[in-house]
Amino acid sequence: QTKYWVVDGKEPDPGIIRQAGEIIRNGGLVAFPTETVYGLGASALDDNAVEGIFRAKGRPQDNPLIVHVADMDRVWELVSGVPARAAGLMEKFWPGPLTVILRDGGVAAKKVTAGLDTLALRMPDHPVALALIRAAGVPVAAPSANLSGRPSPTTAEHVRNDLSGRLDAILDGGPAGLGVESTVVDLSGETPVLLRPGGITPGQIESVTGRILLDPSLEPGAVIPGKPRSPGMKYRHYAPAAPLVLVEGTPSRVTGIVRQMLEENLLRGKRVGVLCREENAGLYPGAAVVGAGAGGEPGETASKLYAALRRLDQLGVDLILAEGVEPRGVGLAVANRLRRAAGKIINTGQLHE
Ligand code: TXA
Ligand code: MG
Repeated sequence: QTKYWVVDGKEPDPGIIRQAGEIIRNGGLVAFPTETVYGLGASALDDNAVEGIFRAKGRPQDNPLIVHVADMDRVWELVSGVPARAAGLMEKFWPGPLTVILRDGGVAAKKVTAGLDTLALRMPDHPVALALIRAAGVPVAAPSANLSGRPSPTTAEHVRNDLSGRLDAILDGGPAGLGVESTVVDLSGETPVLLRPGGITPGQIESVTGRILLDPSLEPGAVIPGKPRSPGMKYRHYAPAAPLVLVEGTPSRVTGIVRQMLEENLLRGKRVGVLCREENAGLYPGAAVVGAGAGGEPGETASKLYAALRRLDQLGVDLILAEGVEPRGVGLAVANRLRRAAGKIINTGQLHE
């Protein structure tokens, strides 16, 4: 039986937070809101509890988890060292949507790191998340609170749909703000490496650390669906149930190609969903159209993306056609998630308007 607690997103009821913290301290699982997406939390010091996260999500054992902390002192207890550039980043962007990868200190449960010698850490910028971590009294390992392979949850309702009965409690603190996951930067080596784009942009990171490298999987053209190049890319992420074809490029050419593919598939009797900028909703007659933000508003698209993918699932379409998003600002993260959700990417030539 999963408890469902509605709390104020800014000032959560201390009694509820205390109970939720106790569940985590005692080895249970609690879903909670963060400023990015909802997380599925367990004590990062307890291997059995962490094992429970993998079981509840159906997550592959070799995909490591992020450890969430509510104060900076915890970091030094969990890692073997904090390079100056890492300290600078944490100072500047914590609490916030930035995850740093440092050398593991061997204190966190083995399952958290999935056998790696590094540890991912983040301080979320959300009153409910911070209060919960403090109440738990332990660092909290938390992946996104979705079934593995499904879009990340941006509301408690999404969590309930995916995981009800598989966890002890859900804290409903309203919709997550940003809508895509944190930026992940590997600081365990000489040069910082961006592993996952998110709410903090590469430019913001470089303003603190100097030049960062992109993980090879993020280089333009590197994402080839079905043909992963690096271990981290071997799972298809953020995937809706129906196959998704992503059409990237100049907006006018994108809409032209989506219209053409729509017509072809409607003629073949398929039910087609289209994911598009809201102002384009009228361009696709015959499709189940789901808008996700206005064009040129990547923040709005980010906050609506995962709910839109879930909506398309509910509509029970056979195929989803998605307009690409310009990879600028947080749009880089949105474009990355769309690419990872796609079974096929069509590039019409130009990425920018
Ligand atoms: O915004 C977020 O980061 C959310 C909220 C809940 O905090 N969490 C989240 O967790 O997105 P998850 O598990 O869905 O994604 C964690 C990512 C995965 O891509 C994982 O492979 C990577 O971080 N990761 C974790 N530890 C790592 C490590 N030691 N080295 C490299 N990548 C790591
Ligand atoms: Mg996830």
